[in-house]
Amino acid sequence: MTDLEGPSRPSDPRASLRKRVFVAGAGLMGSGIAAQCALADYAVTLEDINPQLAEQGLDRVRKALEHAVRSGGIVPSAKEEALQRIDIAIGLRRAEGAQIIIEAAPENLELKRGLFREIEATLGPDTLLASNTSSLPITSIASVLEDPSRLVGVHFFNPVLKMELVEVIAGHRTRPEVVEAAATFARSLGKTVVRSTDSPGFVTTRALGVMINEAAWILSEGVSTREEIDTAYKLGFHHPMGPFELADLVGIDTLLAILDVLWDGFRDPKYRACPMLRRFVEAGKLGRKTGEGFYTYPARPEGPGTPA
Ligand SMILES: NC(=O)c1ccc[n+]([C@@H]2O[C@H](COP(=O)([O-])OP(=O)(O)OC[C@H]3O[C@@H](n4cnc5c(N)ncnc54)[C@H](O)[C@@H]3O)[C@@H](O)[C@H]2O)c1
Repeated sequence: MTDLEGPSRPSDPRASLRKRVFVAGAGLMGSGIAAQCALADYAVTLEDINPQLAEQGLDRVRKALEHAVRSGGIVPSAKEEALQRIDIAIGLRRAEGAQIIIEAAPENLELKRGLFREIEATLGPDTLLASNTSSLPITSIASVLEDPSRLVGVHFFNPVLKMELVEVIAGHRTRPEVVEAAATFARSLGKTVVRSTDSPGFVTTRALGVMINEAAWILSEGVSTREEIDTAYKLGFHHPMGPFELADLVGIDTLLAILDVLWDGFRDPKYRACPMLRRFVEAGKLGRKTGEGFYTYPARPEGPGTPA
């Protein structure tokens, strides 16, 4: 359903019993999270800053679900039913009826703080407030809230429908029952939860940032070619994707933002972003989402995260 303003449809008698998830940010991750929640029988509102971006997000949901059907993960009727449970919105007005808010806006501290301040002002105290940040400290995002104990990190992985892991991050002030509710929610989507304390990059992103950054340094020093480095990581370490394939999937802008957070958080030279990554971002070569990054991607019918 693509109604931007109106109430959610509902000829389905179970619809009024469903919990509603509001996903702020309909990009790569927001659309995957929306698809996953809808498959798990949540009603979902997928929100972005303008109608075109929200529609693009919904289109990404559709493609991800179609891809899941083609790869045998779900049956066609599950795809149709999931799509029926999703509507799109512009701005935060529709967040009001939601029990769970997941923020999947760009990796920018001030942006996320502003969003949560607005969300907190419009929502009752029982709503679960979760950020999908991959590296920003939850404590820093929550520091601007009236009640910082409400915010928790719920870190999904890309592509969301395929990846089993969710990292749940407790900020310094997050209440234990909020952390528990977040873990229960993630498990209700069929995910496995690992917990992390609030350290920059948590467990996974810290390791990912160093791994891809090192590959970029290896490439920029001329040690080997892009393709050979990708092959080395895949066959040498049994990684399903090479570092440059993965960087293009994650988004080079997101990766650079992550490395900057790690640098700010630790001031350790091992987190210094390879200048090549900054040049890619300045040139608008962000990876799959712009059609060009380390590799080029002609427009394809598949959903996000399909192998090259
Ligand atoms: N890309 C990954 O592999 C990955 C994995 C895990 C977590 N994350 C995290 O998820 C978050 C989103 O990353 P992404 O890759 O989906 O980025 P993206 O750029 O694909 O999507 C972000 C979306 O948020 C929208 N947006 C911007 N300002 C907004 C606002 N004020 N309100 C609502 N929406 C707004 C943008 O228009 C865009 O559509 C980031 O915090 C990122 O670190 C990313």
